[in-house]
Order: sequence, then structure tokens, then C-alpha cells
Amino acid sequence: MANTEMLTALNEQIKHEYFSSYLYLSMSAYFADMGLSGFAHWMRMQAEEEMLHVNKMYDYVIARGGKIKLYAIDEPQAEWNSPLDVFNFGLDHERYVTGRINSLMDLALKTKDHAAHSFLQWFVNEQVEEEESFTDIINTLKLVQGDGRGLLLVDRELIARAAPSIASATTA
Ligand code: FEO
Repeated sequence: MANTEMLTALNEQIKHEYFSSYLYLSMSAYFADMGLSGFAHWMRMQAEEEMLHVNKMYDYVIARGGKIKLYAIDEPQAEWNSPLDVFNFGLDHERYVTGRINSLMDLALKTKDHAAHSFLQWFVNEQVEEEESFTDIINTLKLVQGDGRGLLLVDRELIARAAPSIASATTA
């Protein structure tokens, strides 16, 4: 069984992963309302990917003999100024999550919890990918500079995002 402090911290992180899903679903709804179905789809896939993160952590806490505690989830923001504003907000959020994952890793190192250290390594790697995918889209949107035709081209690209799978959430 893992140390109680770590399991409590992971329960807290489950809430943040859940909130991430809620936030990206809110962003998806914002894009759907704008008629940008590709952007809406991309964010919907992102919301689903966050639920895989939730489930991965949930399963680990149980596997280590911990008790699940589900906390209340905050209401996410629903309005932004532009697609670029949405992705900047998303990147800031991912950086916040990266900070939280790093703190969990610090705790694993401090308490010599080797199983948690190994488990959290996947999330450390995942955060690099998460920040990169938001940054890539931000860079594209900066080039487009709000041009309608450019946005529609990006929209067509984003609709191609595949659904996340358990496999992609359980392998590095
Ligand atoms: Fe679960 Fe986007 O971090």
C-alpha cells in the first residue's frame, strides 16, 4: 500500500483532471456555438482525453489500497474573446496542471514512493505533449491572425483529431 499522503494528493489531482475535462468541454461548446465544428471536435477529444487521465489515477489509487474521495468540481469559464484566447487559456491551464504533477513527483521522491514515482512518470511525459499540442495550435492561430478563411482551414485540420484511447493513455 502506498503512503496516505500520496493517495490523498492523488485524490485531489483526480478533481483537477476532472475539471480539465469540464473546462475543455466548455471550450468545445464555445466553438460549437461559433459554428467552428473542427475546433469543437478537437476540444471534445481533449475533454475525453482528460477523462482517461481521471480514470488512470482513479484506478491507481484503488490498486494501491487507497480510498477514493471525489471532490466538488468548479464551474468552468464559458466565454472567451477569440479562438486564440481559448488556446492561450488552455495552455495556461496545462502549465498549471504540469506544476501540480511536478509537485506530486516531488512528494513521491521525498517519501521514497517508488511505485508512485513510476506511475507519475507517464503524467510527466504526457504534460510535455499536452503543452506542445496547445502551443502548436497557438502558433498557427497567430499566423492566421483572425482571418476568416484561415480559421476555416484550421477548423478543417482540427476535425481530423482521433478519439483518445485507453492504449494512448496507458503507454508513454
Ligand atoms: Fe490531464 Fe491536460 O492534463
